Amino acid sequence: MYEGLTSVGAVRRLWSGETELYRQHLLRLDAESRRNRFGGAVSDEFIQRYAEPAALDGAVIYGFFVDGVLRGAAELRPLAPAGEAEAALSVEREWQSRGVGTALLERVLLVARNRQIKHLHMICLAENRRVQQLARKFDAELTFQSGSVVADVIAARPTPVSLMRELVADSADLAIAMLDVPSQLAKRLDHTKRPPESPQPDHERLMLVDNWR
Ligand SMILES: CC(C)(COP(=O)(O)OP(=O)(O)OC[C@H]1O[C@@H](n2cnc3c(N)ncnc32)[C@H](O)[C@@H]1OP(=O)(O)O)[C@@H](O)C(=O)NCCC(=O)NCCS
Repeated sequence: MYEGLTSVGAVRRLWSGETELYRQHLLRLDAESRRNRFGGAVSDEFIQRYAEPAALDGAVIYGFFVDGVLRGAAELRPLAPAGEAEAALSVEREWQSRGVGTALLERVLLVARNRQIKHLHMICLAENRRVQQLARKFDAELTFQSGSVVADVIAARPTPVSLMRELVADSADLAIAMLDVPSQLAKRLDHTKRPPESPQPDHERLMLVDNWR
C-alpha cells in the first residue's frame, strides 16, 4: 500500500444519497482527466445527467475521500452477459500517481469477485497509458479496438475469506460514512456563513484509514 495514500485518505463505498458527491467529483476533473474518463470531451451538462441517481441505478461506486471530499472514484456496472462488468476510474489530478487508482481497483476487484463477475472490462483511449499500466498491474489482457483499448481483468473466484473481507470492509465503510456526516454538514454550514472574500481553510485534518485489508 502506498504510504502517501494511506496517510491522507480513506477508500470506502458510496451509499445511496451520496451521488451528489460523485457528481461534484466528476465535475472537478480537469479537461484531460475528464476526456480520459469518458473517452472524449464531455460537457458539464453531460456529467450532470450521467450522475443522476436514476442513471447510476445498479452501479456500485467506491470513493477515495480526503477530509470528507471525494477525490477519486471507481464505478462498477454489471453488464448484460452474466459474469461480466465494466469498471471506470477517476482520480482528480492533484491525487493522481499516488496509488489511489490502484487502491480503488483492488477494492472493485474484491466486489466483482464476490459477485461471481469473472471479467471486468475497462475501456480507455488508446493514448491513456496510465490506466493501461494500472490494469497491467492486475494482469489485464489489453485489446486494441479503433482508438480504444479494452483492458480485461480476470477476477478470482470468491472464497469465504473474500466474502468476509467485503463484509468487514462494508461495515467499516458505513461507520466511516456516518462519521463523515457531521463534518460534511459543518462544511456546508461553514460555506453558507463564510463571507465570499475569506480564504478557504487548508486541509488540516488528515486521516489514516485502511479499512478493508
Ligand atoms: C487512470 C487513473 C484512474 C489512475 O489512477 P492513479 O491514482 O493515477 O494511479 P496509481 O497512482 O495507482 O498508478 C497506477 C499505475 O499507473 C502507472 N502510472 C502512474 N503514474 C503514471 C504516469 N504519470 N505516467 C504513466 N504511468 C503512470 C504506474 O504503473 C502505476 O503503478 P505503480 O505506481 O505501481 O508503478 C487516474 O490517473 C485518472 O483518473 N486518470 C483520468 C481518468 C482516466 O483515465 N480514467 C480511466 C478510464 S477507465
